Amino acid sequence: MSHNEGEQTAYQGSRELVYEGWARSRANVNIALVKYWGKAPNKGPSEANLPAVPSLSLTLEGLYTETAARFAPELEQDVISLDGEVLQGEERHRAVELLDALRRRCGFAAPFEIASRNFVPTAAGLASSASGMAALAAAAGRLMGLDAADGRDAEVLSEMARIGSGSASRSIFGGWVAWDGPFARQIAPPTALPVAVVIAVVTRGRKAIGSRDGMNHTQKTSPYFGAWVAQAHATFHEAVEAVHAGDLERLFAAMELSTWRMHASAMGANPPVFYWLPASVAALREVEVLKSEGILCGATLDAGPNVKVFCRPEDANTVAMRLTNIPGVEHIVRTAPGDGVVTEVTGSGPWPRETPQEVA
Ligand code: PMV
Repeated sequence: MSHNEGEQTAYQGSRELVYEGWARSRANVNIALVKYWGKAPNKGPSEANLPAVPSLSLTLEGLYTETAARFAPELEQDVISLDGEVLQGEERHRAVELLDALRRRCGFAAPFEIASRNFVPTAAGLASSASGMAALAAAAGRLMGLDAADGRDAEVLSEMARIGSGSASRSIFGGWVAWDGPFARQIAPPTALPVAVVIAVVTRGRKAIGSRDGMNHTQKTSPYFGAWVAQAHATFHEAVEAVHAGDLERLFAAMELSTWRMHASAMGANPPVFYWLPASVAALREVEVLKSEGILCGATLDAGPNVKVFCRPEDANTVAMRLTNIPGVEHIVRTAPGDGVVTEVTGSGPWPRETPQEVA
């Protein structure tokens, strides 16, 4: 089989198509304020991870994945490594699903060589699948002429990233991002609202159920899932309006509503999906105390015990200090609104000047 089969049909228009060398992307993680929890029915691989509910997130700076990709016609199949380890099993399967979707979309057949590095410390307690899948879509897509800097291409990349992991659709974009269809979109830039995010990383107990299994199980077995879906649009619109109005109080209230309702639907599953640990609850109580002292803040949790507190940048020190003192809070990560994915074509190697350059 010719691996370049179909390349003539690669893309409409006069795109630059890069066949040789590496493209490298950097994508930040994101945190949902209004949660994605549940999938719409899908009729095929290109409809994977369509959301049952709309979500709204903030892309964060300083926590990211870098991914380099090149076409590798000499390989039998995709070879994908993360931090130097070749991926196997479910992790590899998800990445290949994304790459297959890109190949179908752009009319290419060649395997890829992919090398990724995570700069989301495991200690940050944040899932890196969103940044990982967004960086993968952007790097591999760049080789097929899809440029994240182009508005329409960014939508296609968001759609492709979604196939790897739903929340990754949002990490293509910077700042405040809405996702309520095949792809996500930016509704406001990172600078639109003065916000800091303080993450209380809670000591890990036994490994919790992952987000994909957790939401599927909730959808199948929780009698509250229908009620969760029924309220989701109203909460989403409330949060979007609050972003546009620059109203942090309203935004944090909508975030907390979405968070408690998502977790309530999960706790109603059989057996229950329960992510909170004692220190999570203690952190939530502390957030209530901070509010009672006049500090504008709000908390959220995802498919794990860590508590993410949104506040004004000038209050971030106080919030961080108060969360640090809670028994069971292992450490604190502070972050702020970040940009969308960036991609460059690098030429010969995946990483620039990583090994000492030869002396001329
Ligand atoms: O896309 P996934 O499988 O990482 O699911 C994300 C689910 C939550 O983090 C709980 C909510 C969200 O919208 O990110």
